[in-house]
Amino acid sequence: MTYNTGFLLERRTIRKYTREPVGDELLNDLFKEGCRSSTTGNMQVYSIIVTRDDDMKRKLSPLHFNQKMVTEAPVLLTFCADFNRFSRWCLLNNAVPGYDNFLSFMTAAIDALLVAQTVCIAAEARGLGICYLGTTTYTADKIIEVLKLPRGVMPVTAVTLGWPAEIPDQPDRLPAEAMVHKEVYTDYPDKEIERFYSGKERREDSRQFIRENNKSTLAQVFTDVRYKKEDNIYFSKILLKVLEDQGFMNH
Ligand SMILES: Cc1cc2nc3c(=O)[nH]c(=O)nc-3n(C[C@H](O)[C@H](O)[C@H](O)COP(=O)(O)O)c2cc1C
Repeated sequence: MTYNTGFLLERRTIRKYTREPVGDELLNDLFKEGCRSSTTGNMQVYSIIVTRDDDMKRKLSPLHFNQKMVTEAPVLLTFCADFNRFSRWCLLNNAVPGYDNFLSFMTAAIDALLVAQTVCIAAEARGLGICYLGTTTYTADKIIEVLKLPRGVMPVTAVTLGWPAEIPDQPDRLPAEAMVHKEVYTDYPDKEIERFYSGKERREDSRQFIRENNKSTLAQVFTDVRYKKEDNIYFSKILLKVLEDQGFMNH
């Protein structure tokens, strides 16, 4: 039997798109396939906001730190954890929803990420390109305003989508053995960690990264430049407040 999964090993994130539109019919096919993803209790506690309008993209652009893909891609999709719709259905049916808590946020966030990834795979299988936007959780408070998300709805990720105008080099990955444990978690001897990351460290693009950022190791580029502790704490505080405002903190 042959499986058509080869494209998964060939994929890479696409950040430049042609002007060719992504039609509604195609988008609907992606959603239909995406919404076949596994979902907790078959509740489908997620929503997907489609942004095509240039004005809306311009409003969202600074909230994604002005990453060019947001205004250049034909479509931007924001995937949200959503207990609003399901809770409303409960209330209409003499059932008391108990989803204003952190566990329910996690449940809905997992659902939203599963559907997001299936939509991405469905898109990539057709030759479309995608880029996730981690900025979604950094500025969730403002994205909520722009997209008019009610209480019970929380953006968890966004994806730009379009026909590729570039074929960038494929980034590296750690060998699978670095992530896979048999039966129980086996903690790593230092030597193993060094071995797993050595390929990444040896790459010319990594060395260039280190030089450009005036650092002496690749790990420092992550800890001191890209994902700094003070930024993580700052954005965590905002995120916790947004979760409270959206009704996910155990009231
Ligand atoms: C949750 C998440 C958030 C991401 N956020 C961004 C982003 O804000 N900007 C960006 O250019 N790429 C973003 N990416 C893409 C990653 O940088 C990319 O997947 C990674 O470097 C590996 O590259 P590849 O997908 O081409 O294999 C994100 C990916 C994920 C999964």
